[in-house]
Amino acid sequence: MSEQPDHYFSAQPASAAERRRAVVRLAGRDVEVDVAGGVFSPGGVDKGTQVLLREAPAPPAAGDLLDLGCGWGPIALTMALASPGATVWAVDVNERALDLLRSTAARLGLENVRAVRADEVPPDVRFAAIWSNPPIRVGKAVLHDLLRTWLPRLAPQAEAWLVVQKNLGSDSLARWIETELACDVARATSSKGFRVLRVG
Ligand SMILES: C[S@@+](CC[C@H](N)C(=O)[O-])C[C@H]1O[C@@H](n2cnc3c(N)ncnc32)[C@H](O)[C@@H]1O
Repeated sequence: MSEQPDHYFSAQPASAAERRRAVVRLAGRDVEVDVAGGVFSPGGVDKGTQVLLREAPAPPAAGDLLDLGCGWGPIALTMALASPGATVWAVDVNERALDLLRSTAARLGLENVRAVRADEVPPDVRFAAIWSNPPIRVGKAVLHDLLRTWLPRLAPQAEAWLVVQKNLGSDSLARWIETELACDVARATSSKGFRVLRVG
């Protein structure tokens, strides 16, 4: 039997951790973050994530916020720095990524970050905002399941902001969300080959 390939979305990546620190700019300041091999974009903030962080409005100041597929945490950390009065739920399947984010948040004194697996988010939590650079490469079935699970947990009037590479199907994903989840989707912006979707 062949071994499972090691993806950034493996629960326990087999590749060497090579844990290290990097300085990145988040929420208008330089912060030192923990990164490692076997997680998404360990070399710094991904281009698509940068587009999302530039285009999304300021996150709500209070309430529960969600970073869906947090990786080492650029989106969750940005929300937590910008909204210290909010609770930021950062969800991923990759345990190494969650561990990295927990250490960074602890070092930065961000007590409002909860880096957890999906089943650790209390089922009654409703989100004042969801921001995500979602895992497109997991395939449509898993991606659709993920969005079907989390988007309906937006609080009334709340919005989700998603970034998707145009050539990885941003427009067909927008149509799927509109028709299958009955949400309004605005193609908010398009930059450097990425589309930012506002879902409300
Ligand atoms: C495109 S990466 C974005 C990571 C990070 N938010 C960033 O901007 O650098 C997508 C993330 O989704 C995670 N992921 C994959 N399947 C998932 C699932 N079923 N539930 C939650 N997260 C998942 C991957 O492990 C990966 O960290």
